[in-house]
Amino acid sequence: MKFLYVLTIVFMTTVTMSAQNETIKLQVEQLVSQLTLEEKVSLCSGRDDWSTQPIDRLDIPWIWMADGPHGLRRAPATNKAGYGDQHPATCFPTASALSATWDVDLIYKVGQALGEECQALGVNVLLDPGVNIKRSVLGGRNFEYFSEDPILSGELGAAYINGVQSQGVGTSLKHFAANNVETMRMFMNSDVDNRTLHEIYLTPFEIAVKKAQPWTVMACYNRVQGEYGTQSPYLLTKLLKEEWGFEGIVISDWFAVIDRVEALKAGMHIEMPRVSDVNDEILLQAMKDGKVEEEILDNLVKEILTIVLKAKSLDKDNVDQNVKEHHRFAREVHGQAITLLKNDNNVLPLTKKKYKKIAIIGEFAANPRYQGNGSSEVKPTQLDNVLDIIEEEYGKVVRVSYAQGYNLKDDNDYSMIEEAVNLAKESDIALVFAGLPLHYESEGIDRKHIDMPAAHNKLMAEVAKVQGNTVAVLTNGSAVAMPWINDVSTVLETWLGGQAGAGAVADVIFGTVNPSGKLAESFPVKLADTPAAFNFPGEQGEVLYGERIFVGYRYYDEKQIDALFPFGHGLSYTTFEYSNLKVSQNEISDKDILNVSVTIKNTGSVAGKETVQLYVSDVASSLQRPEKELKRFKKVSLKPGESKQIEFELLGRDFSYYDAKRSIWIAESGEFELLVAASSKDIRETASVRLNSTQKVPLMVDEYTFVKELWDNKDTRELLKQYMPNWINGWVPEGKTMDEADIPGFFLEHPLIKFPYITHDELSHSDVKELIGKCKEVYYIPEFKTYEEKENVSF
Ligand code: BGC
Repeated sequence: MKFLYVLTIVFMTTVTMSAQNETIKLQVEQLVSQLTLEEKVSLCSGRDDWSTQPIDRLDIPWIWMADGPHGLRRAPATNKAGYGDQHPATCFPTASALSATWDVDLIYKVGQALGEECQALGVNVLLDPGVNIKRSVLGGRNFEYFSEDPILSGELGAAYINGVQSQGVGTSLKHFAANNVETMRMFMNSDVDNRTLHEIYLTPFEIAVKKAQPWTVMACYNRVQGEYGTQSPYLLTKLLKEEWGFEGIVISDWFAVIDRVEALKAGMHIEMPRVSDVNDEILLQAMKDGKVEEEILDNLVKEILTIVLKAKSLDKDNVDQNVKEHHRFAREVHGQAITLLKNDNNVLPLTKKKYKKIAIIGEFAANPRYQGNGSSEVKPTQLDNVLDIIEEEYGKVVRVSYAQGYNLKDDNDYSMIEEAVNLAKESDIALVFAGLPLHYESEGIDRKHIDMPAAHNKLMAEVAKVQGNTVAVLTNGSAVAMPWINDVSTVLETWLGGQAGAGAVADVIFGTVNPSGKLAESFPVKLADTPAAFNFPGEQGEVLYGERIFVGYRYYDEKQIDALFPFGHGLSYTTFEYSNLKVSQNEISDKDILNVSVTIKNTGSVAGKETVQLYVSDVASSLQRPEKELKRFKKVSLKPGESKQIEFELLGRDFSYYDAKRSIWIAESGEFELLVAASSKDIRETASVRLNSTQKVPLMVDEYTFVKELWDNKDTRELLKQYMPNWINGWVPEGKTMDEADIPGFFLEHPLIKFPYITHDELSHSDVKELIGKCKEVYYIPEFKTYEEKENVSF
C-alpha cells in the first residue's frame, strides 16, 4: 500500500514536472519570437554583479546568482559586491573538509541545507561546486576544491549539485576546465595533453554533468591548450552539450570573457557580471554584420530563458533560513571530516581516566581559522571556538589551561613559546592548535611553499620535547609539511571546519565522535616530492602539465616515493577487518556490469565509520597507465562487532583509458586486478578479472602510421603482403611462410611514408595513398600484447 502511494507520488511529480517543462518551452518559444535583436543580445550578459538581465516589456524576470561553495555569500543587493557586507549564512566546512568525509549522502544533505538558505535569501543559483583537480599542493584554491582524484571529485560534486537543486535552486559547476593554478589566472594556459585532460581534468565535470545536470556551468579564466575556456567550441559545445548531454547554460567566470563574439559562437550563454555596454555593442554589431547567424543567438537565448523561467517557477516564499539547525548540522558534518592521521599509543581520545590536566596551546583554539580567502568568504551566523566549547561542554570532565603560543599577526614571533612549553610540561596532555593563517590560502594567489609559519613549527617541536602526549591539531585547507612528525604522538587534521567546526574538534578529541575522515589528497613529505614540482605555477603564462596522468597518488605510486600520509588514509578509534572479496564473474566484457562485494567488520570496541576504496589496476596495457586508479568508494557505519557486506558495480569505462589519437575511451582486453583498500597504500583484499573487449577500434592509418601497426593487424598484414611481397619475402627464413617473416623492429618502426625508400620503390608513393584508403575500414579489438606474445600470434 505504502509502495503504491510512493509510486503514485513519484508518478504525479514526474507528470507535473514534465507538464511544467512543456509550459516553459512554449513560453520560451513565444518570448523569443517577440524579442528584438537588441533585447536578445542584452540577455547574454548580466544586469549587474549578481543578476541576469530582465526584459520588463515582456515580463521576463531576472534571477539572482551568488557564491558558494561552503555557504552563501549573498550581497545586500545584486549591484553590491558583497565583501564584508554580505548577509549572514551558515558557513559549512570548506570543500577539502567535505571531501575528507568521502560521504556522498552527507554532501547531498549539505547541498540541501545550502539550497534551503538560498531559497530563504532569494538566491536562484549558487555558484558552485568547484570540481577542479588539486594538481599541485601549492594551488591557492585547493581549500575550495575536493580532491586530486577525478572520480572522488566528480561523485562529490554530483551529490552537492543534486542536494542544492533538490531545493529548486540551481548550481554552477566550475571552473570549466583545467583551472588548477591561480598565478596569472586570467591568462595562464593549461598546456595539458589530450589524454590527461580527459582522464584527469574533464572526468569530474563529466560525472557531475551526467549524474546531476547542473543548471549552469561556469567557464574558466584560463586558456586550455591555447584557447580561452570562455571561447572553446570544443569544451562548451562539442563535449559539454553534444557528448555529455548538458541541458543548462554556460556563464563566464567573473570578468573572464575576452572575445565576446567568439565566446558566443563557442556556446557561452551569459557574460558575468555586467562590465559595461561595450561587449553588448560589439555583439550587436557582429550580429548586424552577419558575422554570427541569428539562429545561434536564438538558441542560446532560448536556453537562457528556460533556466530563468525554471528558476522563477521554483522560487519559494517564506522559507526559513534555519540557522540554528544548520549550525548543528555543520558541526555534525565537520565531525565526519576530521582526519586522524597518526595516533601512537592511542593518545586520543581524551578521557578523564587518562588525563586530568589539559594544556590547550595555540591561538587558533581561541581565534579559529574556519574558511579560505576570496569569493567564497561567508559571513557566519555564529562562530564557535574550541576553547569555549571545551570549557562549556567538557569542562566538568577535565581541567583546562590555555597558552596562546604564537601570534597570528607575526609568523616569526617566538616570544610566547616558553610559556606554552611550561604549561605543557605540567599538564598530562598538550593539544597544540597550529596551521595556516588566513592569508596563506587564497583565491588569486598560489602558495610558495607548504610550510606552516615558523613560529607554529617551532612551538610544536618545543612542546613535543617536554610532553610525550602531544597532539598536533591542524587547521589548514591543503597539505602542509610536518617537520616534527616523529616527535608528536598524534596528528588530527581538522581542515577548515566552518563556523561550527570547533564543536566537532572537541567531539573528536573527547571521543564523542569517532573520527572517520580520510585524505582526499596526498600529503607529501616535502614540496620537491610532489608531481608538479617542476611545473608549477608555470612561467610566462604557460603551465606545462608535465606529470601527465600521474597526478596525486598516481605519481607517488609510479615514482615509488612515500607520501607523508597517502591518499585515502585516515585512522579511527576502532579497527576494521576486510574479508570475503567476491566478483560476480572472472571474465567480463566491456559491456557487462561486474558486481564486486566485500565484507567489513568493526573489530574494535566502539562504533565507527570506514570508507572502503576500490581501485582498478591494469596489469599490462598498450599505453602507460597508473599503477592503480580509484573507481568506487563507500562509507559504512558499523557498531562494535558488526559486519556489513559492501557492494560495488564496475562498468567497461572503469577499465578504460582515453585514446587521444582516436578520441575514444578504450577498454582493452587483458587481466585487471581489483584492489579493495583502506587507503591507496593499505590494500586489504585483491581479485583478478579478465576483460574480453568487444570494442571495434578504428586503426586510423595515415602516411605517418608505423608499419608495425599494420604488420601486427591480420587484415592490414594481408595488404602489406600484397603491396610489397618481394621486400617481405626477403625477411622470410628458409622453409617458413610470409607471416613468419623476421622483419627487424628497426624497419617496422618506420612510418609508411618512408617505405618507398626502404623497399626501393616496390611500394610507390601512390601505393602508399591507395593502401591508406584501403585501411580506412579496418577495425581491431584492442588488446595489449608484449613482443614475445606477438611472436606467437597466429593469424
Ligand atoms: C571566482 C568564482 C566566483 C566569482 C564570483 C570569481 O573570481 O573565480 O569562483 O564564483 O568570482 O564571485
